[in-house]
Formats: sequence, C-alpha cells, structure tokens
Amino acid sequence: MNAFMLDGVAVPFEGGDTLMAAATRAGQHVPHLCWHPRLGQSGACRLCTVRVDGHLAAACTTRATPGLVVENRTAELDNKRRLLVQLLFIEGNHFCPSCEKSGACRLQASAYQVGMHGPEFEEFYPHRPVDASHPDMWLDLNRCILCKLCVRASREIDGKDVFAIGGHGIASHLIVNSPSGLLGDSAFEASDFAAEVCPVGAILPKRRGFAVPIGQRPFDVAPLPAGPSLPTDTDDDTR
Ligand code: SF4
Ligand code: FES
Repeated sequence: MNAFMLDGVAVPFEGGDTLMAAATRAGQHVPHLCWHPRLGQSGACRLCTVRVDGHLAAACTTRATPGLVVENRTAELDNKRRLLVQLLFIEGNHFCPSCEKSGACRLQASAYQVGMHGPEFEEFYPHRPVDASHPDMWLDLNRCILCKLCVRASREIDGKDVFAIGGHGIASHLIVNSPSGLLGDSAFEASDFAAEVCPVGAILPKRRGFAVPIGQRPFDVAPLPAGPSLPTDTDDDTR
C-alpha cells in the first residue's frame, strides 16, 4: 500500500492524489480555503501549507509519494496560517456579525480554528462594489477573498465561465463575464454549482436571511478542528 506520514499517521493514497485529497479521504483535516474535492487545483490561499520532508509546500497542489513525512498541525504552521487569515480579514471588508454567512463561513471558521483574536494590523477598508443586478443572487465583492472557487466551479462543473480574476497584485478582483460586467447580465443561475461554492459571504441568495438561526449553523455546530497549540492572549500573533 502506498502511504505517506501526516503528523505521525500513515495516510494511504492512490496514483495522482494530492496530499490534500488523500488526507481528506483518510479523515484527516488540513486547513484550507480554496480547495474543493470536486474542483481542480488552484493554490490560491496557501492556508494548506505544510512541511513536506522539511520544506514548505501547499498540500492541495503537492502530489503524494510513498514515504513522505508531512507536518500539518504544528504550532509553527498554525502561526503562519493565523497570519494569512489576519491578512485576508484586513484586505477586505468583513463584518461577521452582520453577514448572513456567519457560522457557515470558512474564513470565519478558519480564524477561530487558528486562534485569531483580532486582525492585529490596520484594516485597508477598500472601496468595493456590491452587484445586486441578478434577480436571485447577490455578489458582494467586499467579502471576496479571491479563492477562485466560483471561477473553477462555473468553468468545470457549470460549463459557463461566468467568473474570472482580473487585475494584478493588490488590484486583483473578481470580474463577471457579461456585456455589462454585471451578474444579472450573465449566464449565472441560482442553481449553478458556482452559486453554492463560495466559502465566504460574497455570493449569496437573495430573499433568504436567517433561515438557520445563529448558533445552529454548520461551523457553530461543528467548528473546524483546532491545532495542538492555540496562542494565548500574550502570544505574538505576527510570528
Ligand atoms: Fe472565492 Fe467567493 Fe470570491 Fe468567488 S466570490 S473568488 S468563491 S470568495
Ligand atoms: Fe491549498 Fe488554498 S487550499 S492553497
């Protein structure tokens, strides 16, 4: 049996598996934001960064090979993950208490998972649009973390190519493939897989609020597993 070691546990894999795919199938959790088992690789968020035979690598894009020794939930790696999540929070406009996705948001759940107590950096508060042109769905770019899940879902599952990433660096942003650039003018439908795959509250259905009460939502009921050593209030969050 082909297997690699993940935090001391033998994880079997099949030919072509990434570390993430094999670990997930084996019931092991590697933190992630931009990976989805139905979609191709992206490597956009780097939250899944692990140490593979001592070297940093993204678990969602690294092929499994026999005998690899992979470190995943170490204090060092979770500290790096906490820094990444903090940077995502300050880069956009994330107001969890007023967001319909609260409790079902993977960014919020990841922040709890890695022990984020606050952003620790000055927020950018960028000016970003809300696109309410579609009859059934909202697109709120204030919450977009550029994970590309909707881009891949629309292309690979829906066969539509509704979304793409435009711009470079800090100016990177999600764009809609339509004559006006608006969602309501595109081929997007509420039944698309791209409509349900957003890990944050950037793509949400209209006319549906608090259908599931706060406290009973997926990550309220089953939080993402915490690592071995959550930071204390006195730890330096920037390490
Ligand atoms: Fe990811 Fe959602 Fe932004 Fe699409 S809209 S790139 S799924 S965060
Ligand atoms: Fe691997 Fe995002 S889950 S880079």
